[in-house]
Amino acid sequence: MVRMDKQQALLNLIKNRRSIRKYRTEQVPDDLIKEIIDSGKHAASAFDCQPWEFIVIKDNNKIRELLSDRLQQKEPPYAINSQKYAEKYGIEKYGAVNPPPVLIAVLGNKKICPFLDSLLCSLSCCVENMMLAAYTLGLGTCWLYVYDMEMPETEDFVKEQLDLEDNFMVLCLLTLGYPDEVPLEKKMRDCNIKWL
Ligand SMILES: Cc1cc2nc3c(=O)[nH]c(=O)nc-3n(C[C@H](O)[C@H](O)[C@H](O)COP(=O)(O)O)c2cc1C
Repeated sequence: MVRMDKQQALLNLIKNRRSIRKYRTEQVPDDLIKEIIDSGKHAASAFDCQPWEFIVIKDNNKIRELLSDRLQQKEPPYAINSQKYAEKYGIEKYGAVNPPPVLIAVLGNKKICPFLDSLLCSLSCCVENMMLAAYTLGLGTCWLYVYDMEMPETEDFVKEQLDLEDNFMVLCLLTLGYPDEVPLEKKMRDCNIKWL
C-alpha cells in the first residue's frame, strides 16, 4: 500500500517517540507548552468527560523539590534513581544530573469523573497525546509515575507539594525539555496477536 506523506509521518511519530531523561537547560517557550497541553485536551475520554487539569511547573526549586522525593526512594518499581534505570540509561541519579526545565502535573478531577478506572484510562490517553505532540515539536518527555495504588505516599507527597485538594488525583509528572540524550535502541517485545 502506498501511503501519503502525512500518514507515514504520523506513523513514524508514534513509532519513534522515546522517553527522554536528560535535558538541555534551555527554556521551553510557553506557546509550545500550551500547544502540548491543547493536544492532551483533545484526547479520547470516557463518556467524553474530559477530566484533566494541568499544573505547569517552571520554577527550578519546585522542580528539584518534586524530584527530590524520587532521589530518596530506595527501590520502588519505576523509581528514576533505581538501579534498574541507572544501569539501563547509564546515569546515576537522573534528577540530580539535569532536571528538566518544565514539569507538567497531569491531574484528574474526581468531581468530573468519579470512576477511578475511567479517570486513569482517560488521563493516560491525554498523556500519550502530549508526549507525541512534544516529540513532533522537537521536545522530549518522560512520564514519571505518581499515581500508584500500592504506593499512595508518592501521590500524597506530590499533592502536598502542589497544595492540591482531595478531589484531584495526580496521574503523573510529565518532564518536558529539549533532549540532551539519544536513548538506547529499544527492543520490542514480540507480543501475541490473535486474529479471529
Ligand atoms: C505508567 C508509566 C509510568 C512510568 N514511570 C516512569 C518513572 O517513574 N520514571 C521513568 O524514568 N520512566 C517512567 N516511565 C517511562 C517508561 O520507563 C518508558 O516509557 C519505557 O521504558 C519505554 O521506553 P520509551 O518511552 O522510550 O519507549 C513510565 C511510563 C509509564 C507508561
